[in-house]
Amino acid sequence: MTLSTPHGGKLINLWEPNYSTDGLKKEIILDATALSDLELIGSGAYSPITGFLGQKDYESVVNNLRLADGSVWSIPITLPVTEATSENLSVGDEVKLVANGEVYGVLTITEIFTPDKTAEALAVYQTADRAHPGVAKMFERGDVYVGGPIKLLKRVKRDQFQSYYLDPAETRKEFEEKGWKTVVGFQTRNPVHRAHEYIQKSALEIVDGLFLNPLVGETKSDDIPADVRMKSYKVLLENYYPEDRVFLAVFPAAMRYAGPREAIFHAMVRKNYGCTHFIVGRDHAGVGNYYGTYDAQLIFSQFTADELGITLLFFEHSFYCTKCENMASTKTCPHGKEDHVILSGTKVRELLRNGEIPPSTFSRKEVVEVLIEGLQEKSVKA
Ligand code: ADX
Repeated sequence: MTLSTPHGGKLINLWEPNYSTDGLKKEIILDATALSDLELIGSGAYSPITGFLGQKDYESVVNNLRLADGSVWSIPITLPVTEATSENLSVGDEVKLVANGEVYGVLTITEIFTPDKTAEALAVYQTADRAHPGVAKMFERGDVYVGGPIKLLKRVKRDQFQSYYLDPAETRKEFEEKGWKTVVGFQTRNPVHRAHEYIQKSALEIVDGLFLNPLVGETKSDDIPADVRMKSYKVLLENYYPEDRVFLAVFPAAMRYAGPREAIFHAMVRKNYGCTHFIVGRDHAGVGNYYGTYDAQLIFSQFTADELGITLLFFEHSFYCTKCENMASTKTCPHGKEDHVILSGTKVRELLRNGEIPPSTFSRKEVVEVLIEGLQEKSVKA
């Protein structure tokens, strides 16, 4: 066995840097989410998707967690535009996809439709509450969706960490070169704390390699910025992980905070990057109290192993136990809550922003130092 088969059977590649846009007059301006989606579609990270979803695929994803062809897909990848913009667009148009004055792709419009956003919110996020950051974002974006196949013409250049932006074809090559037959993917939008490290290393005991794949696209404003997190991952790996067992590259997608639905999406994308296994712990991709602690694990039970094509590794809520003097979960520790070091993400961010140090049983000191320094630099600049 060598790595995973991409979702849908083959890796999509829509990279056409020499495609001429001469003569194309119409354009759609992309927001940060759409730009990252364009790159991820074009690079094959979203295989088998080849464009922004048309109505049939969209409704099928929203209602059935599948594309119209039946393949598992849980988050609608859409291109929203305002009503005013949509009036200037027609089915059959080939339009430039533009961000920051540059053309990043082209879209051949096959459909223009008005979604029922409340129905989308209730299905995808399980709530229409605008206090939910994913729901708020969805309603903020345009009210008309434009669907059709894309071509990717240009890649985004980053000021920092450019070498950590790898396409699925490249990560697969890396894994193969390392001789890894089994690779576990790890999604995070946070620094890697002791609980994350514990579940990663538990997984590493049974697979060849760990693909640490932090999400670095748009996140909500109180999440720790990606550049600060990147420094923290590097210092952690240097000090606590065997170099030849871990590979770090970023996942440029926007965070949707869609909990269970997003866990499926995260798993399918990591399968495209070449992972054979994927970790889902407690409240994966959750926010506030919108989802049950293990909903993001339970949702996978409606699919067959074949349909998923990636092995899920589910972990219980993990913590440091002062009696065990070890990381543990209720599966391995007999002691009570009073012996467990548990801090909420919000609490930790608050400590860090105030320059206070969370206990080393919660987070490695090297990681904490980088985070405090990074956050203080940001607050000086702000
Ligand atoms: S997110 O992208 O899923 O929102 P987060 O950093 O919170 O990022 O979690 C990354 C992964 O670690 C998820 O699979 C999550 O379920 C898991 N996880 C986070 N904290 C814990 C914990 N204390 N115990 C078990 N799993 C956890």
